Amino acid sequence: MKKLIIINGPNLNLLGKRETNIYGNLTFTEFYDSIVKKYPNVSLEHFQSNIEGEIIDKIQEVGFSYDGVILNAAAYTHTSVGIGDAVKAITTPVVEVHISNTFSREKFRHKSFISPNAKGVILGFGLLSYELAIESFMKN
Ligand code: DQA
Repeated sequence: MKKLIIINGPNLNLLGKRETNIYGNLTFTEFYDSIVKKYPNVSLEHFQSNIEGEIIDKIQEVGFSYDGVILNAAAYTHTSVGIGDAVKAITTPVVEVHISNTFSREKFRHKSFISPNAKGVILGFGLLSYELAIESFMKN
């Protein structure tokens, strides 16, 4: 059974309340419960933090033993050399995901410190982006 973790960065705890025109009406807990049911053959975990160092700690903790990390570093994607370095440091493959199409938004969202060291990047499909990342780990 594949062991995967979804790591969510700042403000993603507000899904369902936050800019619903961009991020939708579902809370992450509602969505997470549905995917846990949908993928009974995947060992799935979820971690969210608004704190950069806690995200780095979690990446280091799981990054040598899990089969995959699904990382939405949210705003830190565009600013964090530290999270980028953590992704580079670990052996577990990381798929970067975003709910929105960051390339159709402000220019500062076009830069990612994660992408150069990610296995792949999935963005713009709403919460389905996370499911596509799970599927990618199930296929290889
Ligand atoms: C996001 C896109 C980021 O630019 C933004 O800061 C977020 C969410 C997304 O999932 O679309 O908080 O990562």
